[in-house]
Amino acid sequence: MVTEKVKLFESERSMKDALPANEIKTIRIGKDRFSAVLLKGQLHFMEYGCPHMGYPLFQAVATPFEEISCPWHNYRFSLETGLESNQRCRPLKRYEVIIDKEGVSVILPKQSQTQL
Ligand code: FES
Repeated sequence: MVTEKVKLFESERSMKDALPANEIKTIRIGKDRFSAVLLKGQLHFMEYGCPHMGYPLFQAVATPFEEISCPWHNYRFSLETGLESNQRCRPLKRYEVIIDKEGVSVILPKQSQTQL
């Protein structure tokens, strides 16, 4: 799969200003939507909808156990592995986040420009 590095924020500081801790936010990149949460200082970047039935994850909750809990049917997904706690559906798609001198970026399948 061809991937691209897409810059999300100019710096960690601007990321922290834009993303209140523990709140799952929607980020648009081109025509696509994703979900992002800043949890314990670490940015987690993932697909927009719940892997179970597509409920928007900005309405889900990030738990202290580094899971996303979807309120529709209460499935819980590990932010580390993507696995649902009882493996009742496919794993949550997560994307690699890179923080370097260029800022905060994510590695995505190749697509269009960032529109935050
Ligand atoms: S849609 Fe998320 S748990 Fe069912």
